[in-house]
This record gives sequence, C-alpha cells and structure tokens, in this order.
Amino acid sequence: MTDTTPRTPYGTLPAAAPLPPRKPISLPRLQEMRERGEKIAMLTAYDATFAAVADAAGVDCLLVGDSLGMVCQGRPSTVGVSLQEMCYHTESVVRGLRRVQGTVWVIGDLPFGSYQESREQAVRSAAALMQAGAHMVKLEGGGWTVETVRFLVERGIPVCAHLGLTPQTVHAIGGYRVQGRNDAEAQQLRRDALALQDAGATMLVLEMVPAALAAEITQQLPRCHTIGIGSGNGTAGQVLVMHDMLGIHLGKTPKFVRNFMDGAASVRDAMAAYVAAVKAGTFPDNTAHAW
Ligand code: KIV
Repeated sequence: MTDTTPRTPYGTLPAAAPLPPRKPISLPRLQEMRERGEKIAMLTAYDATFAAVADAAGVDCLLVGDSLGMVCQGRPSTVGVSLQEMCYHTESVVRGLRRVQGTVWVIGDLPFGSYQESREQAVRSAAALMQAGAHMVKLEGGGWTVETVRFLVERGIPVCAHLGLTPQTVHAIGGYRVQGRNDAEAQQLRRDALALQDAGATMLVLEMVPAALAAEITQQLPRCHTIGIGSGNGTAGQVLVMHDMLGIHLGKTPKFVRNFMDGAASVRDAMAAYVAAVKAGTFPDNTAHAW
C-alpha cells in the first residue's frame, strides 16, 4: 500500500490517518459545497508549519487573520498590524501549504488603515496580499465598504467581507461585544449583508451575531458563504482562531470557543476533530453561545 502520510522537509507530520487526496478548494468548489450543504471548515494560520498541519488535517480554508497582532505579536488589538506584516505571514502560510497538499483556500486579511482611504488604496493593498499568495482578501465593515468591494471584485480580486463584531473598529463599537441584538442593528446587518453580496463578495464572516439572525442572513445569501464565529451553527461555515481551538490563550477565552486539544493525541488530530465537528454541524453548539 502507498504511504500517503504528509511529509515536510522537517519530517513527517504528526501521525494520524492519511487523508485521501482532494481537489484544490476554489470559488466554484466552495459554491458546490454550499449547494450540497457541506459546511466550510476554516481556521486562522500565521506560519508555515501550522498551515501544513491544517492542510493535512483537511481544513478547507485558512485565514491569515490580523488576529496575529494579538496571538503572535502580543498586541492588545489588531489595530497596530501593518500590511507588510500581513504579507510576510501570508507568504509563510503559503510556503507551508506547498509542502503538503496545497489544496487550501487562503484568505489574507487587509489590516486597519490599508483600505479605508480610497478604493485605489484598497486595490494596491489587496494586490500586495495576492502577490504574497492569498486567493482572496478580507475587509471589515458594511456601508461604505460596499463600493470598495465592488471595485476589488471588478478587478478580479475575490473578497470576503466581515460584519458583526469588527475588531479593527473595536474602539468605535465600544468593545468586544455581541452585535445585532436590537432591531435597528439587526436590520442594518441584513441590509449590509445583501449589499455586500450584490457587490460581489463571495464570503462573509459573521462575528458575534445572534444565531437566529446569522442563520437568517445565511438563507438570504446563496452566492456569498457566511462563515460564523460566535454566531451559532446556522452559517455556511465556521472559523476559529487557531490558538483558541488549541486551548492556548494569553487572555480570556471567548465563551463560544471549544478546546479541540481535549482528548486529542496531536495538533493534527485536534484540527481534524474540528473539521469533522464543523462538517457534522456539532460545532458550534448553539447552547454554548456568546450572545
Ligand atoms: O483576524 C482574524 O483572525 C479574524 C477572525 C477572527 C475572523 O478576523
């Protein structure tokens, strides 16, 4: 029998059942997954080794999130992260993926200050992330971002939007708290989500939004795949900050996080358990919510 255990130049990745080879994730493949009801399993990643392990564990998408400002750089928020740093980490992740299956869809986060000034600035910043190896860029906010999203998509740059709790504007929204709890906020989220889909966004992170609202928005967006974080299990996929799901935190653990290292023999097993739980719809559990 052929040994399909993933190998890196540094040795064999932590033991686990070898994965069957899979097709690279692309936008049409994400749409197919959506249409047959297969949930999208996403994690954040910031370096080559963890990216390779996530690939070997069957993670569909990796977000090189500006959360690296907190988990890698020890900052109090994501606000201080630069575009140059995001490109550096994106390149590292992509190099790691090339060592294994290389099938993962990579999303590069546009950091604070790299897209707010003008649509042209957004294109320049997005191009830098794409040249670093990202397949898609993510930006935060509704309203004013809609025209920026349209401008990027028209220029061939796939876009993931991000609504609800938007960490780059934590100072403006009054802290890390659930969004969309009252009628006015919920209406605004619905309007923004539809406008972002119309502008061409093909993915939308919904962070700390009540589960019922996130599920309703998901139903309204057949062409834009909602990825929940602290937003219940009615979204098209889930994302967690990798350090959170491995149970390693510098600060407080958000209530919606599950430690997948509990009972796992390796990081790869923990990530594979996360993928399995997302696909089966058993993570998140709507009772362990944040709202
Ligand atoms: O930066 C990040 O990791 C994110 C996720 C929390 C969605 O935006």
